[in-house]
Amino acid sequence: MPRYTPDSKDKVLDAVDMVALVSIRTELRRAGTGRYMGRCPFHDERTASFSVDSERKLYHCFGCGVGGSAFDFVMATEGVDWVGSLESLAQRFGVDLEVADEDPRAAERRRQRERLLELLERAAGFYERWLWESAEAQPARTYLTERGLDEATLRDYRVGYAPSAWDKLLMAGRQQGFGNKELFDAGLAVRARGEGRIYDRFRRRIMFPLADAKGRILGFGARALGADQQPKYINSADGELFHKGDHVFGAHLARVHATRADQVIVAEGYTDVLALHQAGLKNTVGIMGTALTDRQIGELAKLGQTVLLALDPDSAGHEAMVRAARLAAGRRLELRVVPLPAGLDPADLVQQQGAEAARRLVEASVPFVRFQVERELAVGDLASAEGKDRAIAALRPVFATLPPSALREELLAHVADRVDLAPSLVSSWLPVGGDRAGAAPVGGRPQPPPAAPAARPSQAANPVARAERAFLAQCVAAPDAGEELLGSLADDVFTGEFMRRLAAHLRRHLRAPAEGLPEDDADLRRAIAALVADAQSLEDSPVALRRELAAIELARAEREMSLASGTGRVTELRAQRDRIKERWEQLLAQSLEETAPAD
Ligand code: CTP
Ligand code: MN
Repeated sequence: MPRYTPDSKDKVLDAVDMVALVSIRTELRRAGTGRYMGRCPFHDERTASFSVDSERKLYHCFGCGVGGSAFDFVMATEGVDWVGSLESLAQRFGVDLEVADEDPRAAERRRQRERLLELLERAAGFYERWLWESAEAQPARTYLTERGLDEATLRDYRVGYAPSAWDKLLMAGRQQGFGNKELFDAGLAVRARGEGRIYDRFRRRIMFPLADAKGRILGFGARALGADQQPKYINSADGELFHKGDHVFGAHLARVHATRADQVIVAEGYTDVLALHQAGLKNTVGIMGTALTDRQIGELAKLGQTVLLALDPDSAGHEAMVRAARLAAGRRLELRVVPLPAGLDPADLVQQQGAEAARRLVEASVPFVRFQVERELAVGDLASAEGKDRAIAALRPVFATLPPSALREELLAHVADRVDLAPSLVSSWLPVGGDRAGAAPVGGRPQPPPAAPAARPSQAANPVARAERAFLAQCVAAPDAGEELLGSLADDVFTGEFMRRLAAHLRRHLRAPAEGLPEDDADLRRAIAALVADAQSLEDSPVALRRELAAIELARAEREMSLASGTGRVTELRAQRDRIKERWEQLLAQSLEETAPAD
């Protein structure tokens, strides 16, 4: 990955025309100085809640909460990483990027990597041409058609065919100037045991290229055509570029759809992904088998907060789901299960029951815990007392992850009904999950820690956090007074590490909040974009600023009071709350007077 100078980044940001950039995706209208509004390109809506700040080059959606810098916009819409967004913007707005001095060894490694990527790209093209143009691939084409896959889908995923001869790809590669070592390093060749000869790794197979977020080919999964070929799949060996456990299949095609829906569908196999995509479920990716890794969960989390597991309804698939739940616990991911009919994987489902049926099943997904409960009840013998006891014992770890909630009550009632015992009795035998941040329900949507960045920053859930954000937005709107006040406030005025990070950024960049935003902190960039958008409708007023500061105190006092309810401290806390409220009301009246139209 080339490293560009920090100067390059500034130059690109200077050159970006934010309105032109966003206008490709949605129509914008002027809504004030340097401010534009349009319909959000990231979620479906009829009214315009998407706000663009053309001077600061930030965007924020009041509806779905997305937001950030010009770089974030490109990352989200083009599915590239940070460097990719820099390159894309540089190209579009005509900026020459300067590569920082690299040490010669790193430069050499980068050149080698680029050669391998080039080789893999050509290999993908080679396999594609064989699939569509060769007589030899006729059985492969027939097979794919019989599985119900359209040419358009196969072309989207760049599916190909590896010819059966020993060295067709090797010869083509050599002709194009690639050496044996490169063919080997790219995972396209294998060495015969004993002799030193190398030959094509993939022969007489259907080729599924695995691409990174930018669509660059890193390796292949190759499916056997004949029953005589073992194993059914051969994948590129992990090597220089390809690490099976780091990727999910099809992410480059799913990204825009998944981020827009904030939902990603996960299937096991290559053909499942193609079939669901073709059925209109374009936010689908594959995990290429069942050994889901933590890195893959990380990739899924980047695609959407809700993960819909459409894994094969066999024991390997179930195991994968339980594993997914364990890995997802502690991340802000909501896991749901698509109830596939027994014996059908998603590809079979689409083929046998049609696209509409597949879409309906995905819509009928259930929370992961409900799936677990159903499963224990289904495998248990509920006719005997011992069987009931065993089923309830098996359900204990499941309920231990469930904090008091409506879902828990519903599931309890369901279990009681199935084992035919009084709900209060069953409830007394089952543990209750912790209700705090540390004990997230496995696979459920864990409670966010008290002051964690909410997924939708402008709608922070708790009143204290909301008040703190409103105050910070007011600081942006009234930068003179804001700078002074922010500078004088102690850090602990703000609750939680994230809010302190926000405040710390604004302390340094209140007049130009888009400057100095860290590359590795998308949460911060989103929250800053939201504050700046909120600030647009606020007055530049020192009184309003003091009012918002009082509002924080008020929210705190109310929280303390409600926490102390039923204890002897309530009276004292209420008096304190009333004093703060009075001061806040005075400031409110004063600020209303200030903004009242003079007549
Ligand atoms: N897989 C693999 N190596 C194997 C078997 C499976 O890498 N020997 C991976 C592949 O990514 C495959 C996925 O696991 O797509 C699911 O395997 P399976 O259900 O057996 O295959 P399907 O994808 O369903 O293939 P098909 O429908 O064509 O039989
Ligand atoms: Mn299958």
